[in-house]
Amino acid sequence: MPPTAILTVASKARRTLTLTIAAALGAGVMVAIPSAVSAAETTLGAAAAQSGRYFGAAIAAGRLGDSTYVNILNREFNSVTAENEMKWDATEPSRGSFNYTNGDRIANHAIARGMKIRGHALLWHAQMPGWAQSLSGSTLRSAAINHVTQVATHYRGKIHSWDVVNEAFADGTSGGRRDSSLQRTGNDWIEAAFRAARAADPGAKLCYNDYNTDGINAKSTGIYNMVRDFKSRGVPIDCVGFQSHLTNSVPGDYQANLQRFADLGVDVQITELDISGSNQANVYATVTRACLNVARCTGITVWGIRDSDSWRTGQNPLLFDAAGNKKAAYTSVLNALNAATPNPSPTPTVTPPPGGPCRVGYTLNAWNNGFTSAITVTNTGSSAINGWSLVFTLPSGQSITGGWNATYSPASGQVTARNVSYNGSIPAGGSVEIGFQATHTGNTAAPSAFTLNGSTCSRA
Ligand code: G3I
Repeated sequence: MPPTAILTVASKARRTLTLTIAAALGAGVMVAIPSAVSAAETTLGAAAAQSGRYFGAAIAAGRLGDSTYVNILNREFNSVTAENEMKWDATEPSRGSFNYTNGDRIANHAIARGMKIRGHALLWHAQMPGWAQSLSGSTLRSAAINHVTQVATHYRGKIHSWDVVNEAFADGTSGGRRDSSLQRTGNDWIEAAFRAARAADPGAKLCYNDYNTDGINAKSTGIYNMVRDFKSRGVPIDCVGFQSHLTNSVPGDYQANLQRFADLGVDVQITELDISGSNQANVYATVTRACLNVARCTGITVWGIRDSDSWRTGQNPLLFDAAGNKKAAYTSVLNALNAATPNPSPTPTVTPPPGGPCRVGYTLNAWNNGFTSAITVTNTGSSAINGWSLVFTLPSGQSITGGWNATYSPASGQVTARNVSYNGSIPAGGSVEIGFQATHTGNTAAPSAFTLNGSTCSRA
């Protein structure tokens, strides 16, 4: 690539180049070539966004009054996970009585700042409320499914990805399920949970999340087999979370493991990253690069902000020290993110087979700082759709100010358009027309993909 081309590419990515006079071509002509590329972006979230990924942190509602903590959160991260506040014991402390106070504090903080939200976790054998711990069999099953339905409904339209089921596989060599009261309700408890979550929030990606799955081992292979089975039987699963609680090293087949799951047709996400040990900065960079090298690895979440916020007391496994200073691990992650090939949409668009579930036409009329978009949604399936949600991500700088024939929420980022009372039913072969007005800051690109009730639509 000639130097001018390098400069063009780099400036598109808003990179600052450090140039050195380094080579002579032909008859002693000196040319400048780049010897180093300094950080294109100066925060984790912005650096990850260059390749269409998010960079998130697990946060605690109780720390939202700590200004050092909140300043780092707001500056660096564009996704959050509630560390404890959306778990079963927090959200349903007594049966049928739901408490979203602290989960909502986190969700509202994120929504107000355009951050994505990872929902964690609908069902998990740990942190079950006492009343659920005392249940078993069909009583526990129905309480668990009701919990999924209620919580996913409460947060419908706000959650980017839900950890529907957390840590259901056994450690060790069995590759099988962990024994738990949930598992004893029947082996199909996981798929029942995923189906309930899909029905409650069709716009959220539904993930299975676990630890000690960072390389190709018996546990990760057991999960791999479950995901392959779910995909083959149409059980709704969209993503697998790899917690990645690591100590000083990462398995050599970490990236290959992510890739084999991605090849099943699910997204992969690094969901609870923290790394202890003296090799911390290098391992953080290796993990970050592995995600960047897998097209369907859509984002990374670290499990806390400062070392003093970590559940791993005394191990200092995070990117900021107790005083909020950036550590060497921070710099290595930022540099790795900035070295990624710019690509605002890493997830390959899935082209549904002919006669697939939906087709979307999108036209846009723009002026200086505004535009209107008209969207035609066609049901290309063989049966009527009753009740629909269309999910798409607006390019950065675009924000919806009003719309027609659907409700739109939130106004920017990943938007869910929901039917209104008079157009919820789309007969087979039928269409609905919806649209919205929006502002923009120069980028009038169309969303790269549309999902109707969880299925990717083809484009008209
Ligand atoms: O809020 C109470 C507080 O009122 C009380 O005084 C104190 C006394 O111990 O406990 C506080 O609750 C603790 C809670 O964290 C909030 O700090 C719980 O005891 C403690 O068990 C809980 O630990 C959480 C742990 O999950 C529970 O298993 C950690 O914060 C949280 O980081 C951790 O997260 C898990 C993921 O959900 C799943 N993957 C593993 C990961 C690490 O264990």
